[in-house]
Amino acid sequence: MRNIVILISGGGSNMAAIVQASRREAWEEKYQAHVACVISNRGDAKGLRIAQEQGIETDVIDHNSFASRQAFESALADRISVFERPDFPVLVVLAGFMRILTSSFTNRFSPRILNIHPSLLPAFPGLHTHQRAIDAGCKYAGATVHVVTPALDHGPIVDQIVVPVMAQDTAQTLASRVLTQEHLVYPRAIERWLAAESLQTG
Ligand code: GRF
Repeated sequence: MRNIVILISGGGSNMAAIVQASRREAWEEKYQAHVACVISNRGDAKGLRIAQEQGIETDVIDHNSFASRQAFESALADRISVFERPDFPVLVVLAGFMRILTSSFTNRFSPRILNIHPSLLPAFPGLHTHQRAIDAGCKYAGATVHVVTPALDHGPIVDQIVVPVMAQDTAQTLASRVLTQEHLVYPRAIERWLAAESLQTG
């Protein structure tokens, strides 16, 4: 059974959707995976409480308590590594985790780190995706689940979901329409990734 560790910074609605999907009957047997821990870099992240209510182990590794990005990442990687199993390397899932990760972290877990980005990559990597999509006159926006590589928001795409942009949309209304679809595409992408991984490892 593979352990999944989910990293969050805030609301945790994507994390909750993944947990909910993983609680479906026979899901763990089918995908040989289990959400083992939710780690936040912020102690006040609302998602921590949601995870605890679901009986999931949680931890806080506050980036402000470390002198350098490298020291923070090293502590985070060590904590995640507790969940490695000999036959099943841990899957790290970034779900609204608002820290940029350097190559020393991503290389340690790659290609077993996934992220969700609220745009149809390769369009609009980085911040303010919804406003940028509106400003560009896009008729469709969406979300992308991709493998994390050192290049921000540029790793191989696992799955995407398309959302229409309405004439009256603001960044907020578009963000909330995209977010509801993120809750569909992220569990689906993880399932797809796990199924492909099990084919490779037999
Ligand atoms: C999502 O829109 C995600 O794509 C972005 O941050 C937001 C996190 O929302 N990276 P939540 O914490 O999962 O509710």
